[in-house]
Amino acid sequence: MTMTAPLAGRSVLLVISGGIAAYKSLELIRLLRKGGAEVRCILTKGGSEFITPLSVSALSEHPVYTDLFSLKDESEMGHIRLSREADLILVAPSSADLMAKMANGIADDLASTTLLASNKPIMVAPAMNPEMWAKASTQRNIETLKQDGVTFIGPASGEMACGETGLGRMVEAEDLFDAICSYFAVSAPLAGYRALVTSGPTYEPIDPVRFIGNRSSGKQGHAIAAALRRAGADVTLVTGPVALPHPVGVRTIHIETAAEMLAACEAVLPCDIAVCAAAVADWRVENAADHKMKKRAGAMPPTLNFTENPDILATISAHKTRPQLVIGFAAETEDAVSSAREKLVRKGCDWILANQVGTTENPAFGADSNQVTLVTRSTTDPWPTLAKNEVAERLVERIVNFMKETDQTNDQRSPAKAS
Ligand code: PMT
Repeated sequence: MTMTAPLAGRSVLLVISGGIAAYKSLELIRLLRKGGAEVRCILTKGGSEFITPLSVSALSEHPVYTDLFSLKDESEMGHIRLSREADLILVAPSSADLMAKMANGIADDLASTTLLASNKPIMVAPAMNPEMWAKASTQRNIETLKQDGVTFIGPASGEMACGETGLGRMVEAEDLFDAICSYFAVSAPLAGYRALVTSGPTYEPIDPVRFIGNRSSGKQGHAIAAALRRAGADVTLVTGPVALPHPVGVRTIHIETAAEMLAACEAVLPCDIAVCAAAVADWRVENAADHKMKKRAGAMPPTLNFTENPDILATISAHKTRPQLVIGFAAETEDAVSSAREKLVRKGCDWILANQVGTTENPAFGADSNQVTLVTRSTTDPWPTLAKNEVAERLVERIVNFMKETDQTNDQRSPAKAS
């Protein structure tokens, strides 16, 4: 396995509410950043009585979000996007007041509104006086939140800032960091693996304004990159020109030509998993013009000479730092499965997903759904027509199983392992 920081590619939204323990959140931000996570922070009004927005933003290296109705914050990243772009939301410290709001669906500031609008897992690290913690109302709210799927970390027992002793101290930053690492290790079977995905078409220039391209939209490749990322992999997506947003948390490199795609992919190696879903032009124009070709009255149309492009899938499969698992696609208008098997052998990859393209049932290019057959050296597994993100999820499931099995058989994994 290519070792990466335990939280590489992870995004944590940290909500800091009012409490003396807010100072521990500063150390937590530092640990999370060191662990490779992206950290965005919401600081409540109460929280800003204990620590300053400046220290939070300096440590997180992002603006700090404080106001629900701030035009600046909402235009930069509104409360919905703040929660959507995070993999996990941690409320630390969580005051009794914020927990009460969460338990009762109250949304009267940025923190409570973001938490209510969230579709992400939420962890809470309570911090309060022992009497507040023990109050029946607080315990009722905790029960409700647990039933709603919120995970509690702590509180710990000990001496409080107010001088009283008991249950209510926020756990230490290191404990929160460990809890977050464990959460991602369990929910992320591909954590610590590096994956490369190619997507979209390539454009091969004819002259500075014209090119030869194809109808790939990038939907399939981007969906695979996003699914690998959701499974915890550290993903780099190398994409041709498409009209899609970057998948969240995925390092995305834009290229135009096959040669540029190859260079970008080689720069990503070594990695553990490579999925080549891009529709790469097999040929490029050898005599591409430096200036726009002009149509002249009576003149013959230009002749284009083609030369072969490098094969990215074959290059990755034969690379000295070959990924443990190399997967290609085969787009064919006839005999998709037998052509795919021939390509699997010729290009030296491990699996290939065959799609019979161009039919009304499965246009594949540009469509939202796809019908593929997973071809390995010894098996042929036709899948039903699925939405492209379902194809991606199913493929990632297979990848997870493969990596698990390979890990069990190999004591020492290596990204350069031969096939
Ligand atoms: O982008 P979408 O609109 O969502 O459509 C998805 C898709 C149909 C493009 C995708 O599912 C797909 O089939 N991608 C591969 C298309 C293709 O060009 O297939 P191919 O049979 O020409 O190439 C076989 C394999 O070799 C592919 O993995 C391709 O990425 C790779 N290849 C091809 C040529 C080349 N020079 N370098 C390559 O790496």
